[in-house]
Amino acid sequence: MTYVIAQPCVDVQDKACIEECPVDCIYEGPRMLYIHPEECVDCGACEPVCPVEAVFYEDDLPQQWAPFGPAAAEVFEEIGSPGGASASGPLAGDHPVIAGPAPASA
Ligand code: F3S
Ligand code: F3S
Repeated sequence: MTYVIAQPCVDVQDKACIEECPVDCIYEGPRMLYIHPEECVDCGACEPVCPVEAVFYEDDLPQQWAPFGPAAAEVFEEIGSPGGASASGPLAGDHPVIAGPAPASA
């Protein structure tokens, strides 16, 4: 079990969570951020600081966002476990779970 970022992060990317994570396991994608499920130490520090309540303990993910659990593992299949988000840089792409129309531009 681990913590998971879900739909509310998409196109918001507040990044307050990054500041709290003691193990630097929150990785940035083009439209949302992802918690590395193997690097997260389940400390819970990221969950209360997200202004849009996008972070959930995996067991507590709302039903409609359940796919974000497996998505957070799948998005790291290619790069494995880099051991730190700041050193590895942003992810090349987002997981298809968030695929959908981009928000209308202003
Ligand atoms: Fe996203 Fe919330 Fe972090 S919006 S980047 S999960 S603080
Ligand atoms: Fe990091 Fe702790 Fe969240 S390890 S991803 S701040 S639960």
